[in-house]
Amino acid sequence: MSPLSQFFDKFLPIIQSDLRTVLAPSAQAPELFYRMLHYHMGWVDWDGQPIPPAGGKCIRPVLCLLTCQSVCHDYTPARPAAAAIELIHNFSLLHDDIEDRSLLRRNRPTVWNVWGEQQAINAGDAMFALAHLAIPRLVAGDVDGALSARMLEIIDETCLDLTRGQHLDIQFETGDTVTTDDYLSMIGSKTAALIATAAHLGALAGSADASVQVHYRAFGKNLGLAFQVLDDVLDIWGDPALTGKRAANDIYQRKKTLPVLYAMQHSPELRAIYAEKEAFDEQTVERAVELLDSVDARSYAEELARQYSTQTIEYLKSTRPGGEAGEALFELVDRLLHREY
Ligand code: IPE
Ligand code: IPE
Ligand code: MG
Ligand code: MG
Ligand code: MG
Repeated sequence: MSPLSQFFDKFLPIIQSDLRTVLAPSAQAPELFYRMLHYHMGWVDWDGQPIPPAGGKCIRPVLCLLTCQSVCHDYTPARPAAAAIELIHNFSLLHDDIEDRSLLRRNRPTVWNVWGEQQAINAGDAMFALAHLAIPRLVAGDVDGALSARMLEIIDETCLDLTRGQHLDIQFETGDTVTTDDYLSMIGSKTAALIATAAHLGALAGSADASVQVHYRAFGKNLGLAFQVLDDVLDIWGDPALTGKRAANDIYQRKKTLPVLYAMQHSPELRAIYAEKEAFDEQTVERAVELLDSVDARSYAEELARQYSTQTIEYLKSTRPGGEAGEALFELVDRLLHREY
């Protein structure tokens, strides 16, 4: 088994156990309050019955623990941060699915699709609060108050950046002068900031030097940029059975993703389609995808993702990651570049 697979096998049960500790129901709350959160995490069905795990890939907490392991040969100091980051990610997805009108997530109906927007907004808020509480709830032994406070500060700066990115993502749906640079700045905030923070907090928890922390952050940022470009490719050309999301949801939503921006530059017909006011129907979306194919927008986006992956690897090399965890980090970059979901 490869180093990365070994670390995944070791870390996933630990991450899940920490997440369950933080999301343990309190006696004061109605049963449905926590059920919505557990449903979103893929632990129960909508009736609250346990199901085989149906959650996310957990790449952010694994990245956080691996970084810590590679800087100090121990992943345990990063456990609270890893859980907090995965919960922030899930808070953002609860709200993102409302914002993007997404009916499916991880092959299951989204929380807003099951219980309505009001309760899904509230469930996202609860997940946000619990993400912060992960740090005090999971910090064991001698508590370094200054370290916890610094981690929470970085997490809040990241959330602000993430919501800035989501703001731009929504604004761009109706904007007609969005550039590639605008897009890169937007995904740098909505997605890459949290992935950067996963690596950064792993290094911080492992007491890495400040300069090493900076390199891990830059590594995570570039990884996050490649990750979102590929997410945009998978939205259009991925297999919905694997992504667990509706095919071309981004096109229905008129998202200015990288393949769309590129194709709009090369196809007057696509520009005309996006200038129409009416909501896109299935036929319009099919035509848009044909036009994207006709200018090979997929290869353009994949090439950019490869460039960010190359930069990712350069930053990773500059951190001189140690041991098997270091090997696993290189493998993670490669796995994410070739992912199908
Ligand atoms: C989905 O992230 C949201 C993006 C930032 C693209 P993931 O693909 O990591 O989602 P899960 O947690 O594995 O479902
Ligand atoms: C998600 O981007 C970014 C955040 C949730 C902050 P997307 O909207 O592309 O993610 P998916 O495709 O719904 O998972
Ligand atoms: Mg979305
Ligand atoms: Mg979105
Ligand atoms: Mg997407």
